[in-house]
Amino acid sequence: MKILGIETSCDETAAAVVEDSQDILSNVVSSQVDIHSRYGGIVPEVASRQHLVTILPVVKSAMEEAGIGWKDIGAVAVTNGPGLAGSLLVGVNVAKAVCLAYDMPIIAINHLEAHIYANWLSAEKPEFPCLCLIVSGGHSDLILMEGHGQFRKLGRTRDDAAGEAFDKAARILGLGYPGGPAIEKAAEGSSSSFKLPRAWLKGSDDFSFSGLKTAVLHLSMESDFSNRRVATAAAASFQQAVVDVLIAKTVQAAERLAVKQILVCGGVAANRALRQGFASNSPLPVKIPPANLCTDNAAMVAACGYHHYRQGRTDGRDVDVIPGLSLG
Ligand code: KG4
Ligand code: ZN
Repeated sequence: MKILGIETSCDETAAAVVEDSQDILSNVVSSQVDIHSRYGGIVPEVASRQHLVTILPVVKSAMEEAGIGWKDIGAVAVTNGPGLAGSLLVGVNVAKAVCLAYDMPIIAINHLEAHIYANWLSAEKPEFPCLCLIVSGGHSDLILMEGHGQFRKLGRTRDDAAGEAFDKAARILGLGYPGGPAIEKAAEGSSSSFKLPRAWLKGSDDFSFSGLKTAVLHLSMESDFSNRRVATAAAASFQQAVVDVLIAKTVQAAERLAVKQILVCGGVAANRALRQGFASNSPLPVKIPPANLCTDNAAMVAACGYHHYRQGRTDGRDVDVIPGLSLG
């Protein structure tokens, strides 16, 4: 079954066609990063207006690249939360229009669940029960997944999300936006020589990154970040602190719960230090999607939609956006 996925929850306008939650026939992502970078972060009103400009060409490209017509599509899966209300509305209304025009079912998808399902976009399927670490711009969640659609939240961030911490630290270090890729690049080949704090929050599966961010701010007052060597060492030290905590707490919870596998997903999962760290430090098998499927895309939405459809979980044409939607 071929599903058209649509994703507009934040600053990426994306559409993709995926067959049976595995084969990506097309995966088009139009990023607004150049528009928002001049403001140092996402401006919601600008994001929704830009989605309006790009959504139809993006959907058209996804259909053309897949080389199929509307009669070949079985359903449309669209992100309806969490995210920016104005941005979500664009994707949801386009999905509704397509479903009305071609008489197809609409499937509303939780963006966080979609990130997890990026791990299904390969021939090797994850095994249940698995522990999911979602690390994105707005979330750092540890979620136990016992089956399709069965989620139990174990931990979350108490303050900044991991991606948010990367973005804020990059701003302090003068590295630009988005911060994750900028810090990763700056940290390359540099040693993590600054001692920065790690919030272990013993006895809890929660995370906290605001103390680390404040420590980088204090470091900026004592050090000369205009000196490239100092700034790159600070970037490497920050990245190592985030990676250490994410890996140690995830592995600890996975062992306690005796899960079969760890699934890592979300924009921060594109980070090479995190990927390598999991590969060399986890006693359990770890699955992480390729980097382009970790950051926001619509292939993951379509993959997730397939499993909703198989369980008979489609939605009505009155489906609405839920900006504060959570998972588990
Ligand atoms: O999942 P995502 O694309 O969008 C949200 O749902 O939020 O995640 C975006 C976040 C941003 O904070 C960005 O800085 C971070 O993911 N990110 C990274 C990397 N690529 C993106 N963080 C660390 N290393 C990266 N390579
Ligand atoms: Zn995301």
